[in-house]
Amino acid sequence: MRINKNYLSCIMKLLNSYKTKIAGVELDSYICNASGPLDSTLKELENIAKSTSSAIIMKSCTIEPKEGNQEPIYTRLPLGSIQSMGLPNLGYQEYVKFAARLKKYNKPIIASVAGLSVEDYQQMVEAFQNSDVDLIEVNLSCPNLERKPQVAYDFKQTEKVLCKISNLGKKPIGLKLPPYYDLIHHKQMAKLIEKYNIRFITCINSVGNALIIDSKTETPVIKPKRGFGGLCGDYIKPIALANVRAFYELLKNKISIFGVGGIKSGADTFEFLLAGADAVQVATTFEKEGSNCFKRINRELKEILRKKGYNSIEEAMGKLKYL
Ligand code: SIN
Repeated sequence: MRINKNYLSCIMKLLNSYKTKIAGVELDSYICNASGPLDSTLKELENIAKSTSSAIIMKSCTIEPKEGNQEPIYTRLPLGSIQSMGLPNLGYQEYVKFAARLKKYNKPIIASVAGLSVEDYQQMVEAFQNSDVDLIEVNLSCPNLERKPQVAYDFKQTEKVLCKISNLGKKPIGLKLPPYYDLIHHKQMAKLIEKYNIRFITCINSVGNALIIDSKTETPVIKPKRGFGGLCGDYIKPIALANVRAFYELLKNKISIFGVGGIKSGADTFEFLLAGADAVQVATTFEKEGSNCFKRINRELKEILRKKGYNSIEEAMGKLKYL
């Protein structure tokens, strides 16, 4: 049977229209998990690998295995969650091994490193540069460690880290950033990103040091840091969108952007697409709903794009209209 060339190219176009790329690495869909919940053990990572999450993002790791903070560390809230996990993880060497085991699933694997010192970042990035991961996300924004400020709020300290990690290999490096609230800070961070050839960013980590009080018990709802923890979910979506947009405007076509923060539906995802995110990560909804959420959100996004007359992810990317 002769297959018409035009017909074939139409099919190929359609198949590719919902794909995206982060730092040149192809993702089969716009939606994947975030470094955060349910991605610490090999079993959890295999669950993500078998789902329609378009990448496998591993839990932020430290040099040594870490148990995490004292319970209760996670509370679901009406519009999201508050957490202070404290980076519970198995130590980076396990995640290097896991990457080799996860390769058979043929989807991008993303390491996430959270050093407790500049040297830690260097050691872990070097190890992952020589591993089976496709991308390395450098977490500069964990708000849940006692006496360890969020690195990315200190631009001098951030530069020290970037200086040590940016030339350790060919795999693209990205930064997981905290929310910034003043455009001067987006500009300062964008300058460093350009200077050190950072290829992607993840905007945003949870909004750090929030406090939720239970008026019945008259206590905070989580224990670590006297109740101060990272706020996630609907509460933070406008802040996440603003950070994606601010960096998109500053660094358009120079880096890729993962949007994260309050994505629970195709409609939320479409907003991140308009703001300029190249792909999105889902954390709180994944924790609540399990790995079926990736398929559902993707289906809802496709439906919105179709109804609005967009033929691809690319067509709508960054196309926020101004009033
Ligand atoms: C945690 O494990 O405390 C959350 C990770 C993060 O906020 O980066």
